[in-house]
Amino acid sequence: MNLESLIRENVKKLSPYSSARDEFEQFTKPMIYLDANENPFSNGMNRYPDPQQKELKAIIADRNNTPKENILLGNGSDEVLDLIFRAFCEPNQDNIITLPPTYGMYGVLANINAIKNREVLLNDEFQPNVEAILNAVDANTKIIFLCSPNNPTGNSFTDSSVIKILNQFKGLVIIDEAYIDFSKMKVG
Ligand SMILES: Cc1ncc(COP(=O)(O)O)c(C=O)c1O
Repeated sequence: MNLESLIRENVKKLSPYSSARDEFEQFTKPMIYLDANENPFSNGMNRYPDPQQKELKAIIADRNNTPKENILLGNGSDEVLDLIFRAFCEPNQDNIITLPPTYGMYGVLANINAIKNREVLLNDEFQPNVEAILNAVDANTKIIFLCSPNNPTGNSFTDSSVIKILNQFKGLVIIDEAYIDFSKMKVG
């Protein structure tokens, strides 16, 4: 799978926004950015934080033994989910697949971003119906959302169903593990 080819064309052409803090990065002494409307009086809370959260990412990368470039931090995972829609899904053209009963925010974000939400119900054991999911895919299906452990059913999806979807779907598979810390069960 080529991730680049899934990104929206207008997003690929964007240049990163550069904030005042990025532009004066080479200065090591503490500075007050009056042009960014920072308050000159210090109370410990009145400076813009690092927009790229470099220190925090370095700690998380070290603890998880993963490259810091692979880490994206959000204001909760809902913000990250929204960013995924905005980066990959072309409004009024693309679609996603969700597996109800599941976390309702995927559908809300699809509506906000003008993306069709193709719903494929979980089976009687609350596991993904892999065949029906793959049948629901077309050329404009960008994302399949797997919530595991699933909200609201509480169970995790089997490795085999997740692996089948990963192997056969050529778009993005988002595995939302918001509740992973409550689940130590190996489902296999
Ligand atoms: C499965 C799942 N993913 C993501 C979220 C969003 O969590 P956050 O508070 O981090 O935005 C929730 C919140 O209920 C959730 O149930």
